[in-house]
Amino acid sequence: MRVVGNPDLETFARDNDLVGLTAPSLRAVLERRPGYSVDYARRFLAFQQRINEELLHHRVITDNLYTAWFEQGEQTHEQVKAFIVQFSVFSNLFLVAQLYKMINADSLKRMRASKEILANEIGVVFKPSRAGNAQALRNDADVDPQLVSSEGTVEGGVFRFRAAHFEWLLQIAQKLELGFNDVGKRRHGTASTLFFCDELKRLYGSEDYLVSQAASYAVENWAAAGFWDELVDGFNKYNARTDAALPLAFFTWHARLEAQHAQHTQEELEELYFARDLDESVFIRYGNEMLDGVAAFWDGSDEQRRRLAKN
Ligand SMILES: [Fe+2]
Repeated sequence: MRVVGNPDLETFARDNDLVGLTAPSLRAVLERRPGYSVDYARRFLAFQQRINEELLHHRVITDNLYTAWFEQGEQTHEQVKAFIVQFSVFSNLFLVAQLYKMINADSLKRMRASKEILANEIGVVFKPSRAGNAQALRNDADVDPQLVSSEGTVEGGVFRFRAAHFEWLLQIAQKLELGFNDVGKRRHGTASTLFFCDELKRLYGSEDYLVSQAASYAVENWAAAGFWDELVDGFNKYNARTDAALPLAFFTWHARLEAQHAQHTQEELEELYFARDLDESVFIRYGNEMLDGVAAFWDGSDEQRRRLAKN
C-alpha cells in the first residue's frame, strides 16, 4: 500500500504476502540485507495485526471525548483559558521527557532524531531539506509559526527565541490575559496533567529503549489520529463566534507537522523490529500504559470543562 510508484516492490510484496510493509523494509528484504527475510517480514506483519487490534484501538485514539467536544466550538472563555494552562504545562514538561529520550537513545542516529525534536521545540528553526524555499530564509518567516517550516532538519538551522513552541503558546496565553507566571509550570498542572507528564518521562524517556520506543510509537499514533485538527477546528469556531482573535499558529503548525509523521513512525517501528528481537507483548503493554497516561490528560481536561460549565 505504501509502495505505489515502484512496480518491482509492489509485485514483490504481492508475490510474497508482504503487502502492508513499508517500502524501505520491502527493499531490504528484496536485497536480502542482514536480518531481513521473507519469513521474518511475515512475522512482523502478524505483529502489526496485533498492534492494530491491541494498541491502536485504545479509546484515546478512537474516542477522545474532550477533543470531540472542543471541536464543536461551544467553549467559554474560562474553558479555553483552563485548557491553555494545562496544555502549556504539558508543552513545557514534554521537554524533560524528550531530553531523557535523547540521553537514553541506543544509537547516535536515534540520539540525533530525538535532538532534532528537542532543538526544534526550544527554537531552532527547521531548514527545509529541499532548496528553493526562499520564504523560510526571511527573518520574520523564521519565527512566524504560520510561515516557519514544519519539515527539514535543525542541522544548519537558526535559533530564534521567538521560534520556541512555548513562546507561540504564550501568544495565545497573553490574549487570554494569562501572564508568563500563570502558565507552563508544574504548579499549574492538575493531578491528571501531571500524571500524564510523569508517565511521559517514565515511559517515553525510559532507560529501557524498548519501553521508550513503544511509548513513542503510541504517542505518535495518538498525535497522528487527528486531535490537532479537532482543536484547530474548535478554535476557529471560537474565534468566529467571539472577538477573541486568538493566534492559532501553535496549533496549526503542529497539525501540519503531524500530517507528515505517521509514515515515518511506521518505518521506525519496522526498523526496530528487524534490528532486534523485540518482545511483542512487552511492546504492546508499555504502548498501552503510555496511552493510559495520554487518556488521563484528556479525561482531566474533560472533567475540568464540565466543572467550569456549571459555574
Ligand atoms: Fe511542539
